[in-house]
Amino acid sequence: MINVAVLGYGTVGSGVVEIINTNNALISKRIGDVIKVKYVLDLREFEGDPVQEVLVHDYNIIKDDPEVDIVVETMGGLHPAYEFVKDALLAGKNVCTSNKALVADFGPELLQIAKDKKVNFLFEASVGGGIPIIRPLKTSLAPDEIEEISGILNGTTNYILTKMTDEGGEFAEALKDAQDKGYAERNPEADIEGYDAARKIAILVSLAYGKTVSFEDVYTEGITNISDRDIVYAKALKKKIKIFGTGKKVGDKVSVRVWPVLIGKEHPLYNVDGVYNAILVRGNMVDDVMFYGQGAGKLPTASAVVSDVIEAAKHLHININTVWSDEKLELVPAKQMKAQYFIRLNKKKDVAEEKVKKLFGDVTVVDAGFEDEYAFITGEITEGTYREASKDLDSVVNKIRLD
Ligand code: HSE
Repeated sequence: MINVAVLGYGTVGSGVVEIINTNNALISKRIGDVIKVKYVLDLREFEGDPVQEVLVHDYNIIKDDPEVDIVVETMGGLHPAYEFVKDALLAGKNVCTSNKALVADFGPELLQIAKDKKVNFLFEASVGGGIPIIRPLKTSLAPDEIEEISGILNGTTNYILTKMTDEGGEFAEALKDAQDKGYAERNPEADIEGYDAARKIAILVSLAYGKTVSFEDVYTEGITNISDRDIVYAKALKKKIKIFGTGKKVGDKVSVRVWPVLIGKEHPLYNVDGVYNAILVRGNMVDDVMFYGQGAGKLPTASAVVSDVIEAAKHLHININTVWSDEKLELVPAKQMKAQYFIRLNKKKDVAEEKVKKLFGDVTVVDAGFEDEYAFITGEITEGTYREASKDLDSVVNKIRLD
């Protein structure tokens, strides 16, 4: 018998219980042992829900029960999730979590404790919801040097950009629609400012290169200044605007950023629309591989958590080696990051073609029918070059990089 304790009976936690109960025979067969939810920890009562039979309010009951093999952490937040997870690992229990903030902030430390205790700390659901990406990175792609990871890592922003593309309208209207439909939270800052995607790409890049990327060090721009006009320009260019989280190897450093991009039909992520997420990984041997699916939602996310539970159940006292040290990965400074830039200038201000040419070299002019603007695409330049040049132009309306 494999006994599981679930911390937090919210959306994902209740999904985990539902999957383990609904698919119990199948999951038990795949593990080779019977699996059971022995405890659910939550402060609340759930009258009328069978979970009441296994509900506890005191974490010590779980921590001190030697029969509990696997702890599932679906509480969210850093505290007390961190303390509970650490205690569980120190007590020799495997932990599976969906908590990306916990993984991004404490990943190396918790992995080291798991290694010392010969158990596992697994976090498939922390990036890309139901999409298998963490385990493939650790196993299927292990033969490869990772050259690039680029992902649409946030469903809320992908929904907003898709709606603006398909139906027109400004960012604020699309955000309101996303909130009305329950995709965006009342406080949408973490999604629309790119912080959620920054945590996710920090985790992926840390795993890909075995050293730590702090999410605070990820150069991050959100989508709040993407306007209806930007979408019209994108269409004139036969491109779409997406927001990518990217880690790209440049020499012996890695360029890690979250920013909106213009991509054409030839890009593998072009057709990833709505709330869907997708992650493109380029290995130096396997070439391009792509992972696509639902990046959020109760059952997709819980399915990823249960995949970790199954993995842990098959390796109860065998640590699956995960390379992620607390040494900092060397990153390309923001000013040295390179891209082609699409830039819109307000014609009423200091736009002169000669000045643009002097600042950016040869550019390709983009005409989307707006008489009051001058828009163009640069060659590949650094962020530093862009910043210096734009200081000399007080007329920049917006800029979006090409990918
Ligand atoms: N808010 C996130 C998203 C949920 O929109 O993708 C999963 O992290």
